[in-house]
Amino acid sequence: MLRPVLVASLLLAACSSVEQFRQEPAPAGTASMPPAAPGFVADEAMLRRARVAIPREALPAKLVYFASELTEQDRVELARAAPNMEFVTGLSNEQALARAGEAHGCDVRFASAAFVKAATNLRWVQAHSAGVDRYLGRPELVQSERIVFTNMRGVHGPAIADHVFAGLLALTRRLPGYLENQRQGRWGAAPGDAPAIALHGRTLLVVGLGGIGTEIARRGHGFGMRVWATRRSEAPAPDFVARCERPEKLLELLPEVDVVALAVPLTAQTERLFDAQAFAALKPGAYLVNIARGKVVDTTALIDALRSGRLAGAALDVTDPEPLPADHELWKLPNVVITPHVAADAELTEERHWELFAENLRRFGAGEPLLNVVDGTAGY
Ligand SMILES: NC(=O)c1ccc[n+]([C@@H]2O[C@H](COP(=O)([O-])OP(=O)(O)OC[C@H]3O[C@@H](n4cnc5c(N)ncnc54)[C@H](OP(=O)(O)O)[C@@H]3O)[C@@H](O)[C@H]2O)c1
Repeated sequence: MLRPVLVASLLLAACSSVEQFRQEPAPAGTASMPPAAPGFVADEAMLRRARVAIPREALPAKLVYFASELTEQDRVELARAAPNMEFVTGLSNEQALARAGEAHGCDVRFASAAFVKAATNLRWVQAHSAGVDRYLGRPELVQSERIVFTNMRGVHGPAIADHVFAGLLALTRRLPGYLENQRQGRWGAAPGDAPAIALHGRTLLVVGLGGIGTEIARRGHGFGMRVWATRRSEAPAPDFVARCERPEKLLELLPEVDVVALAVPLTAQTERLFDAQAFAALKPGAYLVNIARGKVVDTTALIDALRSGRLAGAALDVTDPEPLPADHELWKLPNVVITPHVAADAELTEERHWELFAENLRRFGAGEPLLNVVDGTAGY
């Protein structure tokens, strides 16, 4: 499990609209429930579908959670946060299945269809990723009345937003060419004739203004860009987003934007959202950054757009297929920067992940609504 460094101020800094968690008064006889982690804040999106897994009045004396791994220090922290919980670790999937009847909660890696069926006491499953597309075909998990399914949305925002600008700036400042020059000990212009551009005054469209998208938008604003966004709901956009539209408006926005950053979940609505029609609508010479999922983009249409110059460049942390085969055409295009699905890598991501997990464990033990509940119908 991740190192538990409780840096609550990091979450505060990351959330544009926050709500300090307040513990409801405990009913008579249960006065010893622990308080929230000091300073922990849940943003509005974390709370949007918050749902109680086991109501306080129905909590058994001991709740059992099957976790993948916990250090001794993790256990000390969790014993403080959720004293009525017992953590079982070190189980293979087969061992977990044999003991399924004991589990009240578990990490998603244990929650096979057979496990969910056998685990009659199971009320909560925690995914350790933000994207849950790989579970959407599992109605017993994502559509269950009995089980609350939660994800890690939002925790990757700061690191991924940095990565978006690392990829974008590499393209707009022509760094791959200069790095090649550096390897050759060559002082001179980068090869190729793509011009370097400045971001100031350009229009950035963030497709998916969620936990990650908001951090991308914040950085775009810091670069002096005009920031637009789309999102599915009517949740308000922060001040640094000049225009926020519903998904249906996408094709209308594309002719006017210089950079598109994809930060949507992969759902039935977003699969191949960027297809030949979307690329044709895009302003010629725009840049695309995809940190969402490879399947949000039609790879053939992407390659065509890169070859024709419709796209000046693309920074891709995710691809379709993944991993990208060694002989894939995308590797060979000069105007592409590829990283192998590592955009979230950072100690900060691990800290934020731990904080959210620990807070959900505390909430579970206290019979309070869990954060980041997945909407199985919406697909995220
Ligand atoms: N590259 C990586 O390593 C990596 C790491 C983490 C996550 N991801 C990917 O990034 C995705 C987003 O993560 P997150 O933490 O930002 O999740 P999130 O907070 O749930 O944000 C998702 C956003 O997408 C919006 N959305 C949903 N459907 C849309 C549509 N059809 N058109 C436009 N916007 C739409 C949602 O709108 P509402 O706010 O209105 O609901 C929400 O703002 C994940 O699902 C995952 O696939 C990749």
